[in-house]
Amino acid sequence: MEVIIRPDAARAVALVADLLEARLRRHPEQVLGLATGRTMEQVYAALVDSGVSFSHVTSFNLDEYIGLSPEDPRSYHHYMHEHLFSRIDIDPARAHVPQGDARDLAAAAADYERLIRRAGGIDVQLLGIGEAGHIGFNEPLSSLASRTRDKCLTPTTRAQNASMFGDDPEQVPERALTMGVGTILEARELILLATGSAKAAIVARAVEGPISAMVSASALQLHPNCKVIVDEAAATELQGREYYDFVFANEPDWAAYRD
Ligand code: GLP
Repeated sequence: MEVIIRPDAARAVALVADLLEARLRRHPEQVLGLATGRTMEQVYAALVDSGVSFSHVTSFNLDEYIGLSPEDPRSYHHYMHEHLFSRIDIDPARAHVPQGDARDLAAAAADYERLIRRAGGIDVQLLGIGEAGHIGFNEPLSSLASRTRDKCLTPTTRAQNASMFGDDPEQVPERALTMGVGTILEARELILLATGSAKAAIVARAVEGPISAMVSASALQLHPNCKVIVDEAAATELQGREYYDFVFANEPDWAAYRD
């Protein structure tokens, strides 16, 4: 795992967008794992602005609320359409989001896993982190070997995501269809982005704490190619910061990004 601390959110976002753009330019047939949430909005805006082509890309989103139709403005289908898919040249047939309104959720979950396998697996998976430590919607106690399935959301998550639901956590769906931690760990590269002081405590637990199903993001420690990119505000509780900064200052890969 590599932890990269940027001076502010704008530079953390710009770094993530740059890494993705570079991968797309090098291998236009990229299989991307995509995430939602406020943190990702600026990443998608930067990718749109870059003008990079998605015409050969296949994408798989992490999760979707159960019970919301793709047209529902609060759904992740809608979020992706608004922030990315309608603004790039991706083939809509290859832009996958879990089917939260499926009648048979277990079948929809199994289909999703099959589609990912058929695409050859995910090359790079973008991740945010919830305040309860989830990646996707893998809430505390999600098996670290879990696959795509339906999952009950915690009160913390429902409160955190209430802004799209009239600020009323009770209106946030109780369940979601999400890739599992095991599914996520099979991506060939992981990039987690977290910004803002509200994420500082959970970032430290995920990166430096014990690997535990209580913090599903801690499973990223098991991945051989994972970058955690944070801003100053999200980095304040990291103990190993001096070393992370030293690596950033010395790794040739990061030369272009040093200020
Ligand atoms: C939701 C998504 C997660 C995302 C999280 C962070 O819960 N299911 O995949 O990581 O939001 O959201 P934000 O970026 O708004 O803090």
